Amino acid sequence: MNNKNYIFIANWKIYYSFNQALAWCKEHKQGLAELAQKNSIVLCPSYEALAPVAQLLADTPLALGAQNCSEHNMGAYTGQVAAQSLHELGVKYCIIGHHEVRTAFGDTHAQLLKKMEQLLKQKIVPIFCLGENKQDYEDNRTHEIMAQQLEPVTTLLKNHEKADLLIAYEPVWAIGTGIVANNNHISQALTFLSQALHQNLNQIRFLYGGTVTGETIKTLKEIDLISGFLIGKATTNFQELKKIVS
Ligand code: PGA
Repeated sequence: MNNKNYIFIANWKIYYSFNQALAWCKEHKQGLAELAQKNSIVLCPSYEALAPVAQLLADTPLALGAQNCSEHNMGAYTGQVAAQSLHELGVKYCIIGHHEVRTAFGDTHAQLLKKMEQLLKQKIVPIFCLGENKQDYEDNRTHEIMAQQLEPVTTLLKNHEKADLLIAYEPVWAIGTGIVANNNHISQALTFLSQALHQNLNQIRFLYGGTVTGETIKTLKEIDLISGFLIGKATTNFQELKKIVS
């Protein structure tokens, strides 16, 4: 185990309803505050819970994250949530291009780029997700796929050289499957990304996501290029979250 200051992003998806999310935060507030004293933890509940969770955890060092945002400023866009509103609620991070969002809404590169631009305007750090699917993994096309997926990021960096960005490598076949990618595969993927983004490495941090648990994290922490983790299911259980973070 090492003494690196990892950042832990808890992606709650819609595992909890509004009431359940608040009850969880109330129940574990003290424990969460203690964990967040020594570690960077970002809690990403679903949209409707952001405001009350922000209030509830305001006196703790926990940061708040959102799971997506609109590519639009404000206006006639039914069903969307503007980055400005996220900022007003105290959101500091926002997940962009998560595989589940890409699948549901088919975000294009142009849309992903616009979303990140909206976030940067509001001083919210984008957590850009990418990763190959099972077929591409088996066909050995991981790097080729990532090179394509990286396009919105490289375009963004042309206009925002100093943008603070988190890039989450999440192999699709490892998300919520109980199968974690092996260290060699992840290291090679992150090496590829760092070479592709070499000019901006000062402000970019790499995360890994996909079946991170209290058990699997031990081995994952051996990977040099990892600065943090994007974690789904396991973070909805406080004891498991504690195990991951400690
Ligand atoms: P998981 O999800 O930790 O449940 O595999 C990760 C993610 O979707 O970001």
